[in-house]
Amino acid sequence: MTRHFTDIDDLSSDELAAVLNRAADYKEKQRAGIPHPDLERQTMGMLFQKPSTRTRVSFETGMTQLGGHAVFLGENDIQLGHGEPLKDTARALSGYVDAIMARVFEHANVEELARYATVPVINGLTDDAHPCQTLADLLTIREAFGGFEGTSVAWVGDANNVARSLALGCALTGVDLTVATPPEYALDDDVMEQAEALGPAPTVTDDPAEAVAGADVVYTDVWISMGQEDQRDYRLSAFEGFQVNGELLAGSDDARVMHCLPAHRGEEITDEVIENERSLVFEQAENRLHAQKGLLAWLLDE
Ligand code: CP
Ligand code: NVA
Repeated sequence: MTRHFTDIDDLSSDELAAVLNRAADYKEKQRAGIPHPDLERQTMGMLFQKPSTRTRVSFETGMTQLGGHAVFLGENDIQLGHGEPLKDTARALSGYVDAIMARVFEHANVEELARYATVPVINGLTDDAHPCQTLADLLTIREAFGGFEGTSVAWVGDANNVARSLALGCALTGVDLTVATPPEYALDDDVMEQAEALGPAPTVTDDPAEAVAGADVVYTDVWISMGQEDQRDYRLSAFEGFQVNGELLAGSDDARVMHCLPAHRGEEITDEVIENERSLVFEQAENRLHAQKGLLAWLLDE
C-alpha cells in the first residue's frame, strides 16, 4: 500500500520513532562523510505554489545525498498553473517519479494529490499543516534534551500550520505543549480533538508568560503566514504582547528558543533572542535535511 505523509499523524508513534532514528543515523553518516545512497536512481517531483528556502533546498540536497534526484516544479512552470487539473498532474507525475512533494495553499489539494497519485505524496506545507517541520523540530528537541520524556514546549503567537502539526507531533511523542495565543488565533477544535486522540492534549492559554514559565523550549513563528499578507495591519495589532523577547524569556528557566524560519525579527521575535546561545533555530533548519532523508528512506527504501 502506498503511504503518504500529509500530516504528522499519518505516522504512528512507533513509525515516527523509526523515521527519527533513521534521520539521526543519516545525520551521523553525513557528518562522518560516509556515503548512504539508499535511494539510488529514485526521483522526487517537488511542486511549489509558495516560495521556500529550507524545504526546497533540504529536499533537493537530501535526494542527492541519498543517491537520487529531485525535480523542482514551480506551479507556473508546469501545466498545473495553466489549467491542467491537479488530479491529472498527480497521475501523470506518478508515471515518472518515485515520490511527489507538494507545497500548496489548500490542504485539500495535498489530499487530492494523495488520492490520485500512485507514489507517496509528502506535504511540504499547506495552510493547515507543516509536518516536515515537525519532524525536524522533534529531532531537534530529542537531541537537545536526550529524549522526549519530561520535556515541555511553549508555543507563543499564532496557532498556525506549524503549530497545528507540532501539536499532533507533541501528542504522538508525549511532549508537554502549552499554546499561548490571542483567543481569536487559538488552536482549532479539530486539532485539539485530533491531539487528544493521539496522546496528551495541549494546554491553551492567552497568557504568554504563563506558557513560558517552566518550559524547556519557547517556540514561535511569523504572525503573517504566506497568503495572509492582506491581513498584515490587523494581525500586527492582534499579536501585540506575544513577541518572544528577552523580557518574556526572563520568565522562563533558561528555555531554549525555536523558530521554523523565516523569521520576521522585530515582529514575533527579536534579533537578540535569535542570536542568543539559547537559540536552536539553525540546528532546527539543518535538521530539516536529516529528518526528511529519514522520511524519504522510510517511504521509499524497500
Ligand atoms: N521552515 C520552512 O519551511 O522554511 P521555507 O519556507 O524556507 O521552506
Ligand atoms: N507559518 C509560516 C511558515 C513558513 C515556513 C507560513 O505558512 O508562511
